[in-house]
Amino acid sequence: MTDSGLLDKKLGVEDGGAGRKSKKKPKGEDAWRPLGPRDPFAMLDALPEKKQQEIQKALHLFALGPSPPRSLQEAERHTYRFWDTQPVRRLKDNATSHGPIVESEAGVRKDPYSLPQGFFWDTLDLNSSSVLRELCALLNDNYTEDDDNTFRHDFSPEYLQWTLQPPNWLTQWHCGVRVSANKKLVGFIAAAPAHLRVYETLRQMVHVKFLCVHKKLRLKRMTPVLIREVTRRVNQQGLCQAVYTAGVVLPAPLSSCRIRERPLNVQKLMEVNYPGLKPDVSLQRALRFNRLPEVRKRCHLETPPPIQDDDGKVTDMVSFYGTAFRVLNHPIHTDLRAAHLLCAVSSVPEPTDLIEDALVLARAKGFDVFTALNVMGNTTFLTKLKFSDSEISLHYYLYNWQCPDISPDKVGIVLPS
Ligand SMILES: CC(C)(COP(=O)(O)OP(=O)(O)OC[C@H]1O[C@@H](n2cnc3c(N)ncnc32)[C@H](O)[C@@H]1OP(=O)(O)O)[C@@H](O)C(=O)NCCC(=O)NCCS
Repeated sequence: MTDSGLLDKKLGVEDGGAGRKSKKKPKGEDAWRPLGPRDPFAMLDALPEKKQQEIQKALHLFALGPSPPRSLQEAERHTYRFWDTQPVRRLKDNATSHGPIVESEAGVRKDPYSLPQGFFWDTLDLNSSSVLRELCALLNDNYTEDDDNTFRHDFSPEYLQWTLQPPNWLTQWHCGVRVSANKKLVGFIAAAPAHLRVYETLRQMVHVKFLCVHKKLRLKRMTPVLIREVTRRVNQQGLCQAVYTAGVVLPAPLSSCRIRERPLNVQKLMEVNYPGLKPDVSLQRALRFNRLPEVRKRCHLETPPPIQDDDGKVTDMVSFYGTAFRVLNHPIHTDLRAAHLLCAVSSVPEPTDLIEDALVLARAKGFDVFTALNVMGNTTFLTKLKFSDSEISLHYYLYNWQCPDISPDKVGIVLPS
């Protein structure tokens, strides 16, 4: 559900375990606990708060905690207490058939899933500027933060509206959780309409995005409740499938892609110690290596592509979107802007020149780094255009759909978080 590249790896999505719990323990917290008295997590929950904090901190430090795994090897040893109850592909399944894992139920549960006492569901009205600001605050403070407190996402209200309100969006698919006492927004998950072709099947489904739990409420099983509730609301509209991406390994990736990055503003990236830059390379060498043409080759207009032939027919098209980060604790730089390749369509087999034009355009528009996934035919230009090799995976998942694995070059969608 996120694709901001190496930065996201550095930011580390599961860093919230050290967060302190609120002083007053909500009585109904059982709803976020597993069942069964001998469950180790129930036993952990039964310990005094201070002890729990110490244990959770230690588990995080040694990466042995209940956080989802980052590799398939780790995943094979992980017990998915929630995901194993869901209609999703299993890790070792070599699916050959195509279709829903469970048929849609006749009656969809009418009532929302229960939240522990002290919390309530709130459907967020994103047309309200104050609600949008609250969502920005939740995401910017909790979506990602690196261990050394350097970079943070900086989603703007406009960005959130763009990604959460595509054509046919529904308000009820923007599910928030608030604290009853002070109405503070502490959890969020969203679904947006998506029309997908999976192999030969065209399917109306949703794209699930922006799953976020406040750092102080991590590791309390709020995520399963959020996922169940958004699923219920989607089911109410007669839809039973979802597509989503994550950096973590869940059961079971349909495709595992790589995020690759291309420095645009080399000096700034070096100054902010941007992760993933080649170590021990001098600024001069890095500048030389990453030099880009001054002007675009195929499109000399000030507007971005599409490119038209002499008859006015569109022959090539490239599009990218931007996300921003706050740079914390730096004497000079306060922000960092990343452009992400959305799609490129070209009349020639290798769209290298077209993508290079996109890099030039992105640099001119003030972006510092450009990311692209190794999906579709992108590998034809990624290395030529000096996109870094990266070990950062982005896994694609389908909810309630069985089909064989898909190789990255056959993945045709990029899902902005
Ligand atoms: C992702 C996040 C919501 C998980 O919260 P948490 O407090 O660590 O986890 P919880 O105790 O609520 O729930 C644990 C369950 O959620 C699952 N889970 C964790 N991260 C998940 C993700 N990104 N997508 C789907 N499920 C996830 C776990 O696998 C676990 O289920 P399991 O028992 O089947 O393994 C939280 O870490 C967060 O807000 N991170 C920052 C934003 C982010 O990374 N969002 C996801 C982008 S893909």
